[in-house]
Amino acid sequence: MTAARGRAGRLLATSDLHVAYEENRRIVADLRPGSDDDWLLVAGDVGERVDDIHWVLELLAHRFARVVWVPGNHELWTPKRDSVDLRGVRRYEHLVDLCRGLGVLTPEDPYPVWEGEGGPVTIAPLFLLYDYTFRPDGTASKEEALSAAREAGVVCTDEFLLHPDPYPSRDAWSRARIEETERRLAACDPSLPTVLVNHWPLVREPTRVLRYPEFALWCGSERTADWHVRFRAAAVVYGHLHIPRTTWHDGVRFEEVSVGYPREWRQYGLRRGTLRQILPAPEPVSD
Ligand SMILES: [Fe+2]
Ligand SMILES: [Fe+2]
Repeated sequence: MTAARGRAGRLLATSDLHVAYEENRRIVADLRPGSDDDWLLVAGDVGERVDDIHWVLELLAHRFARVVWVPGNHELWTPKRDSVDLRGVRRYEHLVDLCRGLGVLTPEDPYPVWEGEGGPVTIAPLFLLYDYTFRPDGTASKEEALSAAREAGVVCTDEFLLHPDPYPSRDAWSRARIEETERRLAACDPSLPTVLVNHWPLVREPTRVLRYPEFALWCGSERTADWHVRFRAAAVVYGHLHIPRTTWHDGVRFEEVSVGYPREWRQYGLRRGTLRQILPAPEPVSD
């Protein structure tokens, strides 16, 4: 590993690397820390296939002092012709085992503490999924919301490839994850702030700029709307929307850190880069 000298470690983040695309594989091949002490948060959607996910996390684990990963919806798909045909919870557990073999931390590990500049801060990787409560205006239930989205021609591929087994539904899986995670966060050292890392945004506001507003259904849960305040977040890191930017909610910095698909970053030119500095807190950037 080579690294610049004389630079303190930073807490960095990226997401939505989507390495099924060759252009994105090249981006990943170029991801390098600025110092031997840099940590990297990977907020999901590395890819769909287990071999791809392994390639990315192994490469990053060799380069960064610590890598923390949370699953996105794409990792949880069971695509045809993958080397692993596990579904739902068993697929997730398989990925957690893969991470453990590489020394990569997941939502199933004790939360690490960032002791570098801007710390100490508890780093909390979360896997919360979504529960269809980011509903379109005028709808009052999951069923009404899904039919409104279908009528608008918007249906997330998760409906076909992200299996919730053994839970009866993705929202049931999400509710279980949210309840368990809420207990863990409540048990964290109350004297430390946190960095909350989740593939889906914890608040609905960032989804208001989606090109297809109905897609918000697959983007989070109303149940986490106050977690950034309740759990003392110094920053919240997420992806999924493929709209890289910084927003502020109740005075807390939210960083959407996605790279996204080549057709997206070619259009906008990766203007926020491929690695976002989370700590020490950078100079504010206006979007
Ligand atoms: Fe994505
Ligand atoms: Fe996603």
